[in-house]
Amino acid sequence: MAKILVMNGSYRNNGITDQVIKTMAEELETDGAEVETILLRDYPIEFCLNCRECTQQPGNLPGECVQHDTMQELINKIEKSDSFILASPTNFGSVTAIFQRFMERLVVYAYWPWNMNAPKYRKANVVKKKAVLVSSCAAPGFLGRWIYGTRKQLKTTAQTIGANTVGTIFMGLIAKDPHHRLSEKVQAKARALAVKLL
Ligand SMILES: Cc1cc2nc3c(=O)[nH]c(=O)nc-3n(C[C@H](O)[C@H](O)[C@H](O)COP(=O)(O)O)c2cc1C
Repeated sequence: MAKILVMNGSYRNNGITDQVIKTMAEELETDGAEVETILLRDYPIEFCLNCRECTQQPGNLPGECVQHDTMQELINKIEKSDSFILASPTNFGSVTAIFQRFMERLVVYAYWPWNMNAPKYRKANVVKKKAVLVSSCAAPGFLGRWIYGTRKQLKTTAQTIGANTVGTIFMGLIAKDPHHRLSEKVQAKARALAVKLL
């Protein structure tokens, strides 16, 4: 049974991002996958200290962080999963602060001893997992996808944890209604995208 981990960086209960990942999770479960959804807002994650202690340790496995918070639990879940849904609203042209905080702590996936100018990603040469990227914004979706940093940041997150991006959904024009509901068309698109993970 495929194990799919959803990492959601939205702050809002039942906002547009929550609705999309719920639609995707329901589809995947119907198709026999095991889905676990992580709401990053429920996980206290400390800032990366840039100490690079974790990056000194060689090997394919994530290095050990000096901080002992909920991030270790998330890394364990990432390691055990076959594919991912990575989701964040676009705030000020970027993933949310909570997603960014999670993303920076993924430096444990870099081998970067002090004598090297740039990191080598530990998962660069291992069998790739799959990822689908989800975002939303007030601007039209086709614009948001290209003008903001969100897509690139989500893609970098996927690469870092050893996954190839197999699709992206970027919902636009969603900010005019405080209780925006996904249209049937968007739900169908989300379901079709989710099955690419299987
Ligand atoms: C602090 C903040 C910054 C935002 N910045 C942008 C932005 O730069 N561009 C944009 O198109 N929408 C922006 N938005 C709209 C959000 O993208 C939109 O509210 C979000 O996708 C809703 O996601 P949610 O329903 O999961 O909360 C911003 C919203 C907030 C609250």
